[in-house]
Amino acid sequence: MSQRIADTVTGSSGTCNGYPHTTQQNGVRLIGKEPWWKSAVFYQVYPASFKDSNGDGWGDIPGLISELDYLVNLGVDCVWLSPVFDSPQKDMGYDVSDYQAIYPPYGTVEDVETLTRQCHERGMKLILDLVVNHTSVEHAWFKESRSSKDNPKRDWYIWKPARYDSQGQRLAPTNWRGYFACPTWTWDETTQEYYLHLYASDQPDLNWENDECREAIYQDTMRFWLDKGVDGFRIDTVNKYSKRTEYADAPVTDPRWESQPAPEMWCNGPRIHEFIHEMNRKALAPYGAVSVGELSNMAGPSDVLPYVSAAAQELDMVFEFSMIRLGTGGGFGPKYIYQPYALSRLKSHVAQFQTFIEGTDGWTTVFCENHDNGRAVNRFGNVSTPELWATSAKTLALWQATLTGTLFLYQGQEIGMVNMPRDWGIDEYKDVESQNFHGDAVRSGDKQRLADTMHGLQILGRDHARLPFQWDGQAKNAGFTTSDHPWMRVHDEFPKINVRKQSGDPESVLEFWKKALRLRKQHADVFVFGAFRHLEEQDEKRYVYMKECNVPVAEHGATSTGKKRALVVMNWSEQVQKQVDVLHLLDCGEEQARLLVTTAAAERPGRLGEDLQAWEGRVYVNF
Ligand code: GLC
Ligand code: CA
Repeated sequence: MSQRIADTVTGSSGTCNGYPHTTQQNGVRLIGKEPWWKSAVFYQVYPASFKDSNGDGWGDIPGLISELDYLVNLGVDCVWLSPVFDSPQKDMGYDVSDYQAIYPPYGTVEDVETLTRQCHERGMKLILDLVVNHTSVEHAWFKESRSSKDNPKRDWYIWKPARYDSQGQRLAPTNWRGYFACPTWTWDETTQEYYLHLYASDQPDLNWENDECREAIYQDTMRFWLDKGVDGFRIDTVNKYSKRTEYADAPVTDPRWESQPAPEMWCNGPRIHEFIHEMNRKALAPYGAVSVGELSNMAGPSDVLPYVSAAAQELDMVFEFSMIRLGTGGGFGPKYIYQPYALSRLKSHVAQFQTFIEGTDGWTTVFCENHDNGRAVNRFGNVSTPELWATSAKTLALWQATLTGTLFLYQGQEIGMVNMPRDWGIDEYKDVESQNFHGDAVRSGDKQRLADTMHGLQILGRDHARLPFQWDGQAKNAGFTTSDHPWMRVHDEFPKINVRKQSGDPESVLEFWKKALRLRKQHADVFVFGAFRHLEEQDEKRYVYMKECNVPVAEHGATSTGKKRALVVMNWSEQVQKQVDVLHLLDCGEEQARLLVTTAAAERPGRLGEDLQAWEGRVYVNF
């Protein structure tokens, strides 16, 4: 029998931000030399809904600090804290009025300093959410900018004069439709011009073309917080800073609307790589800060790669959304008219962004939840019975934990939190986007459209992931707050789905996540860094793939390269499915193949030839 020499990897390497170069031995890269963030597990905290420490119904930073041990215990290496900066909360803090102050209900700047220290003491890192495509209308920069046409900060935002039609009616500078079902321009009475906002009218876009404005962004947002010791940023809407400067109308793709989808006017614009490279060079790299950018409307891998190529020195990582957007009707018009899709489509999106880094110096990410999407177990799993809820949540965990790239978990995903009940009305949906899309459907007077929109919101709405975290099935408000008025209603199912109930129960979703994360780290060579090989691509029920990496093997005194393999076999359906030929795929004998982990209960070990029960997932390995 051959013997493995060391934990080694063949994944792509990164040298961004001053991290050590990956060293090569016999063509095999050493894990120890990879930057920490590649094998780290990131965990997104949505501050309003995580843990309320003072009974006002809002989660807060002291509440988060009080649960850091929970995160350590889960296997988290880095906390990503969604925006906590001062804000009128028109878009839950993605509308910042002061980058250097904390929204009082969340705490203080000192609380963030304490949080940073407390994370570091536990061996964890902390990243903040950087929202610098736009500010709030309440930000001092915008107040100045809108005060007069000759204010020095006038050009820090994007102002344009009106157009007029043949009847002399005032028209916006372009016909663009923004993200929250509204036009991208708002008229400002004081100076008689329009300002641009890709999101709500309360979120005016900053003008990255202006050098002083960019410098102020670097200084007042990034360096300010990096000087306080935070480890980096999740960077909001990162590919929208450079707009196409012609400000031309978009083609009319839906004549029913006064404004038209125009993402090509502001995504991946002419100066985007220059801006991001500069941001990295001037504000991130000097601190060795980690960065993960939100990248939307990408045509494909070749568009994504320039952002994450280590040599380009732009971003360490990005979120690419083709998989997570499945089921939506596109970002602009019918986003919430649900579009069913086949499993094979999901698989092909995943495979594309698993493999696109091979042979390059780029890196990828793994995620299936965040604060802008419905819960994964509702969207991709099965919540029709308690049994299927649990197994499918575990199988989704197995899927995520075995994919290549940096893994991002969203709060509550680890206990299989579910979407709000279907009988909750639109009043429980607090999000500006949900309200705008619903309001549009109401105003259309079209009953079918309204019903379809509500159906889509029930699956895809951003609100579901924002419900209070379910800590304890026996406590008031699931242990999230002692207040009688949590800012969002607590899920009715919290007595069934909560941390307390699952902790220590080996069959629970939570304990399964812990186990899956331990295995991911233990075998980071194959799970985090390994090559992804798609199998049975067209199967609409089974989801099967191979992860593999090269390992040096010592045989009869000589060293050669062998293959370490993990075969992931999952049943993404409610019907029993035939097993695949495990030994053939692993290319090994029965004595070498072993079941590393299964979602099935302990008494059913998942022998090699055994069929897969509904939503069962297993990983077989040759090591
Ligand atoms: C990002 C955020 C989202 C926010 C938007 C505008 O997409 O994730 O929550 O509404 O940017 O800042
Ligand atoms: Ca509070």
